[in-house]
Amino acid sequence: MKIESSPIKYTLGENKSPLTYKIHFILADEKDNPLLAGFQDQWKSGKFRGESKQKFVDETSKTIFLGLGKPENLPLRNLAGMFIELGKNLRKLEGVGYEIFLRQEITSHYDCERLVYQIVNSIDLGYFDIRVLATKDQEKKKPGSVSFQTEEISIDKKILSGIKKAQAVSKQVNGARYIAHLPSNYFRPQEFEERSREIAKDHKLKITVFNEPQLKKMGMNGILAVSRGTDNAGKMIILDYNPPGAKKTFAIVGKGLTFDTGGISLKPSAEMHEMKYDMCGASATIHAIAAIASLKTKIRVVAAIGTAENMPDGRAYKPGDVYTAYNGLTVEVQNTDAEGRLVLGDVLSYVCDKIKPDYMVDLATLTGAAIMALGHETAAVLSKNEEFIAKIKQASELSDDRVWELPLWDEYGEGLKSDIADLRNIAGGKGAGTISAGIFLSHFVDKDIPWAHLDIAGTAWRKKGSGTQTNGPTGYGVRLLVELAEILSR
Ligand code: BES
Ligand code: MN
Ligand code: ZN
Repeated sequence: MKIESSPIKYTLGENKSPLTYKIHFILADEKDNPLLAGFQDQWKSGKFRGESKQKFVDETSKTIFLGLGKPENLPLRNLAGMFIELGKNLRKLEGVGYEIFLRQEITSHYDCERLVYQIVNSIDLGYFDIRVLATKDQEKKKPGSVSFQTEEISIDKKILSGIKKAQAVSKQVNGARYIAHLPSNYFRPQEFEERSREIAKDHKLKITVFNEPQLKKMGMNGILAVSRGTDNAGKMIILDYNPPGAKKTFAIVGKGLTFDTGGISLKPSAEMHEMKYDMCGASATIHAIAAIASLKTKIRVVAAIGTAENMPDGRAYKPGDVYTAYNGLTVEVQNTDAEGRLVLGDVLSYVCDKIKPDYMVDLATLTGAAIMALGHETAAVLSKNEEFIAKIKQASELSDDRVWELPLWDEYGEGLKSDIADLRNIAGGKGAGTISAGIFLSHFVDKDIPWAHLDIAGTAWRKKGSGTQTNGPTGYGVRLLVELAEILSR
């Protein structure tokens, strides 16, 4: 379960690839830039005017012009989208390299480190081969390299640190995408343990794995209930990154259902295969802690995942069953397809109890309702803590892993009352399924811990990419958490 790095080399200066394309950024007001001499027709016709997202390739001179629009604000999404495409091309075209020119006119407008970070990150994500199990027609071509040319030596250091950060992060985003791609006969709770051990080894993190016998002793009956219908036993896995000088503890909790059939409340078959992605929250969680550790961010991070498989069988838990959660609450299961909240409930209350974090987030592909509400462009964020949400939004702006707030008002939880137990696992009725799921989780979180729930059902995978997000599994959350950890460490 080794985590692969991108094979693309990033350097400063001239590019020595067999075939090199020069890449120039052009701003919307640069009509008379000498670089565009000979291309005035394109400008006049509107084909290329340096507008954001515009791209113009001159095959004769092997030059690619990329529009940045008006220099006021860096169009992060458009920049990333263009470089994800260019990364895809590096895979298709043997030996092709890019020489990217960062003119003074460009670098004077933007934070160079961030610019280079986005470029490198996006190329690496675009280059990643999503046909992870294909054996035929695999394009095993050797990519060229990518180099940066500047006019001032003084920014070389910033470029190098941008490259370094991007490589550490893109490795983990692609790592998260890789295991998300793996189907449930390749990737089970057992493999989640192997992957987590690999991460612990690579970054010298403490790891604790809780298997069924311990889960039983601890009373983690949510994970156990969900796991009853399968031979692939559920687990709770905890990674702990505790660097010297850390002042705060940030806990990240992830939903790791390696497959969700719905259980006895069986899902319809149409899109069921997509439920191999029901582990994307946990995948982002363990790869984010890896990225944070490699960047040496000065904050203690605890990554805790609950991993299980939700299957119907003779032993499976049934609608109407009641179990007692780790925190003592009794829960009536009225729908075995609302399983993520049962697994997360146990992990959240365990983390509150034993780790007592200063901040906590959870990432989960928790409800189809999140896709109904927001589609695939943004995750839903729910929290009662305004200050914490503000920090998450800040991290979201930097990473462009987008978040949109939904309310976490108690009124939405009215439907979670059970006739015979403390709680039931669905709210009933039609609307606001994402919010009632969030309220359900809130019953397992200490009131005084700043906590936010991220429903990533829409963003964890998508048919068509956009902005910083690729098609297929996106690795959503890794980049967000890297920025959030940095913000919380200050
Ligand atoms: N993993 C699903 C949510 C999901 C569905 C994510 C489709 C992405 C795409 C979750 O376990 C689930 O089944 N939720 C139910 C909850 C319902 C029974 C209250 C849902 O959303 O239908
Ligand atoms: Mn489900
Ligand atoms: Zn699920």
